[in-house]
Amino acid sequence: MGPWPLDPRGPEAEQIVTLYWLMFACAMVVLAIVAGAIIYSGIKFRDRPGHSARQFHSHNMLELTWTVIPTLMVISFTVLSWNKLNFINDVDSNVAMTVKVEGRQWSWAFTYPDQQLFKLQDGSTLQSGQQLDIPIGQKIKLELTSKDVIHSFWIPNLGGKKDAVPGHTTSLWIQADQPGTFKGQCYEYCGDGHADMLLTVVAHSASDYTAWAADAVKQANLLNDPRTKVGRDTFLAAPCVGCHTVQGTTAAGKVGPDLTHIASKPNIAGVLSPVNQENLTKWVSDAPSIKPGVVMPKFKGTLSDQQISDIVQWLLTLK
Ligand code: CUA
Repeated sequence: MGPWPLDPRGPEAEQIVTLYWLMFACAMVVLAIVAGAIIYSGIKFRDRPGHSARQFHSHNMLELTWTVIPTLMVISFTVLSWNKLNFINDVDSNVAMTVKVEGRQWSWAFTYPDQQLFKLQDGSTLQSGQQLDIPIGQKIKLELTSKDVIHSFWIPNLGGKKDAVPGHTTSLWIQADQPGTFKGQCYEYCGDGHADMLLTVVAHSASDYTAWAADAVKQANLLNDPRTKVGRDTFLAAPCVGCHTVQGTTAAGKVGPDLTHIASKPNIAGVLSPVNQENLTKWVSDAPSIKPGVVMPKFKGTLSDQQISDIVQWLLTLK
């Protein structure tokens, strides 16, 4: 299911949708009355044999009615909207956490708050792209900015939209009431890639959120670790590249399996599960002893234990 604004999953979206339906219902009533009166008069008072069309003028009561009622409606909508806007624009009270969001042609980047939960080994804070993970039932403040042109952040199920403007910080808040995956879309035309400038918010229950954060931090630490880079270089200098492809690198071998997403696979060569450090180390060290007849040679002896460990560490980042 794509983003759909009339399916609210949080308090802010709920308020917007309630007001939307109220205005829509009033508009339908007005439409029915106006269209009904036109059709009724057109039939009833039309010029026909034995009946000439009548003209009406200066019916004070009628004119007063159709002036006063719409005026009262417009005033009511203004007051109601103003009232909801206070709730929607209140980005600061009871905020559980603040995430920095940067729009750029044509993607989104998120920086999680400076909290222990999101701390990386090197002292920096967890970042992510395209996907924002939040806990449910909590007000999340988003501070938006842009690197290049104006973008607009919108997750229809969770809240209103707000522009991300270069050189400025704007803010809004979102909240999800139940766990789920919510899609969003940049809502300001920003160039060729605008239509593909999508984003996803994943809402987790409190306990799942802690587990998600721990895993994301672990993965980011692994990526930042200097040994990961050494592992990548070792892999690209080793015979591995003759058989395996890893997209985004010079490894383009066709004999063995593509390793671009090896860390997300359910198993290694159908025999070792899950794909973790221990199993990858076993496999790279001596695949033939695990799966006799496999094309993958034994690397223990050819590569040092340190080299195998570095390669495995890098492979674990290929999600
Ligand atoms: Cu970014 Cu449209």
